[in-house]
Amino acid sequence: SPCEPGDTADSPHRPAGGMRKGLTSYGDQGFSLFLRKAFIKGAGFTDAALDRPVIGIANTGSSYNPCHGNAPQLIEAVKRGVMLAGGLPMDFPTISVHESFAAPTSMYLRNLMAMDTEEMVRAQPMDAVVLIGGCDKTAPAQLMGAASAGLPAIQLITGSMLTGSHRGERVGACTDCRRYWGKYRAGEIDAEEVADVNDQLVASVGTCSVMGTASTMACIAEALGMTVPGGASPPAVTADRIRIAEQTGAQAVQMARDGLSIDKVLTPAAFENAMRVLLAIGGSTNGIVHLTAIAGRMGLEVDLDALDRMGRETPVLLDLKPSGQHYMEDFHHAGGMATLLRELKPLLRLDAMTVTGRTLGEELERAGPGFPQDVVRTIAHPIYPQGGMAVLRGNLAPAGAIIKQSAADARLMEHEGRAVVFENLEDLATRIDRDDLDVTADDVLVLKNIGPKGAPGMPEAGYIPIPRKLARAGVKDIVRISDGRMSGTAFGTIVLHVTPESAIGGPLAHVQNGDRIRLSVKNREIALLVQDEELARRMRANPVVAPTAERGYRKLFLHSVTQADQGVDFDFLRAATMVGKVPR
Ligand code: FES
Ligand code: MG
Repeated sequence: SPCEPGDTADSPHRPAGGMRKGLTSYGDQGFSLFLRKAFIKGAGFTDAALDRPVIGIANTGSSYNPCHGNAPQLIEAVKRGVMLAGGLPMDFPTISVHESFAAPTSMYLRNLMAMDTEEMVRAQPMDAVVLIGGCDKTAPAQLMGAASAGLPAIQLITGSMLTGSHRGERVGACTDCRRYWGKYRAGEIDAEEVADVNDQLVASVGTCSVMGTASTMACIAEALGMTVPGGASPPAVTADRIRIAEQTGAQAVQMARDGLSIDKVLTPAAFENAMRVLLAIGGSTNGIVHLTAIAGRMGLEVDLDALDRMGRETPVLLDLKPSGQHYMEDFHHAGGMATLLRELKPLLRLDAMTVTGRTLGEELERAGPGFPQDVVRTIAHPIYPQGGMAVLRGNLAPAGAIIKQSAADARLMEHEGRAVVFENLEDLATRIDRDDLDVTADDVLVLKNIGPKGAPGMPEAGYIPIPRKLARAGVKDIVRISDGRMSGTAFGTIVLHVTPESAIGGPLAHVQNGDRIRLSVKNREIALLVQDEELARRMRANPVVAPTAERGYRKLFLHSVTQADQGVDFDFLRAATMVGKVPR
C-alpha cells in the first residue's frame, strides 16, 4: 500500500523520504499521506514519481524582478537535473525582492523573504531545496531562511546581466548608471543623451554586472560552499548558466540522499572563507551585513575587529568595477571563482565542506590549473594592497562603522572637516542642491535617520550625492557619514553602517552643524571632536524616541530589527544561543 508508514525506509532509490517528510497534520500518519497523495495526484503524478526524493525549487521569478528574468529557463534546467538524478522536482513560489521595486527599501523586505523561505521549506514535503536567487537581497534572504530550516540546501544564482554599449562605450548597471547621472547633474551631458544611455545600462535580464551586492553575494555563496563549483559567475543568459542549473538540480538529489544538511556546509570555516573572498573581491559593504545575518542563524557572531585584521592581510585581487575596470562576464571568461580561489589558496580554510560533498580544497584540485587572464590579479600584484573594506570605531560609532576604502578617494582617507548635517532623507532632498547651502569640498556631510529603524530598512542612501554647486565646480568626492548602507556599485569616501544608529539615540543623532569630525582610515577611527560633557548635555536636551508603528509588518520590523553589527536580522530569528565567533 502506498500509505503504509515507513514503507520506503529501506529502498535504495528513495531513502530520502519523498512525500512522507513532515507528516504531522492529522495525527493519523497514514491518512495524512493518503490525503497528500490524493491531492498531488490531481496534478497527474504517479506513485512511482512520488516515491522519489522530493527536491523543492524556490521560484523567485516575478515580473517585478528582471534580475530573475531567466527563472523559467533555470527552473526547467534544474528539473531536468533533478529527474536525471532520480529525484522529483517541485517548484514553489516565494516572495521576490528587486532593488528598484521594493518600497521603502529592499532591505526592509529581506527578513520577510527569509521568513517566507524558511517556513515554506519547513512546511512543504521536500528532502532538499534549490534556492534560486540573484538580486541583492534574495540570495542572503534564502541563505538565512534555509540556514534556519536546516534541510540540505543549494543556492542557484540567476547570473549577471550582459553589458551594453552607449555611443561606443561599454556600460553596465549600475556603476555606469551613477556615472552618467552624475554627468547629467553636472551639466556635462544633455537630457537626450541621458535618455539614450538608459536603454543600454541593463542590456539583458540578470543581476547588476559590476561587483555590486548581487555579484558579491554570488561570490560569497560559492565561497561558503553553497553553490556547485563555478556557480557564481556565468551570466544569466548563457549556456554555462543553464548547465550550472542542471548540475544544481542533480546535486540537490545527491545531497538529499546523503543527508548533507546545511549545517555541515555553513561552518565557521565556510564563513571565514566567505569573509576572505568578500575582502579580496572588493565586495559590497552590504556583504558584511548579510554574512552577519546568515552567520547569526547558525549561532555564529561576526567579529568586526577580527574581520578588519583579516582585511589588512587580504589584498583586493578582482579587477571589477567599481574598485577596478571589468564586469562580471569578464570574470566568468577569466575562469570565475576557481581563478580567484586558486590565488587566495594560502589564505583559505581548504577543509570547509561544500554542497558537492567534497571540501573546498578538493574542488580546487579538480578545477585544474589556471590560464593567462587579466581580471584576477596575483597576490604579488593586487589592485589594492589591503582588503576592500575597513572597520572604523570611535565616539561617533561605538559599535562600529564601515568604509569601502578600495572605492574611496585616497586623498580623503585622513581628513578632518566641519559637519554639514541633514536630519533625514527629506531634509537632504530639500537642501542638498540649493545654491545657498553652506558647504565646501573640505566639509563632512552627515546624514541621520537612515539606519535599520530610521528610514526604516537601512536604505542605500549612504551614497549622499555631491551637493550640486560642488558638483558643478568639479568636486568628485567628499567625506560622507551615515547610519545607512550604500550600493555596492557606488564609489566615494563614504562611512556607512554607523552603529548604534541615530533613530535609537546613537551619538550620530547629536551631531550638529559646524562640529568637527575626524576620519582616519589608517587609525580605523571616526571621531566627533566634541567634549563628552557637551555630547551628554545634547543627549539630555534632545532625548531620542525610537520609531514604532501601529500595526502590520512595519510594527514587527521596528520592534524586532537588530543593528548592523547583528546583521539587521530580526532578534527572534537569530539562533537562540551563540556558539562561536567568526572569523577565528
Ligand atoms: Fe538586481 Fe542590481 S538591481 S542585482
Ligand atoms: Mg545594489
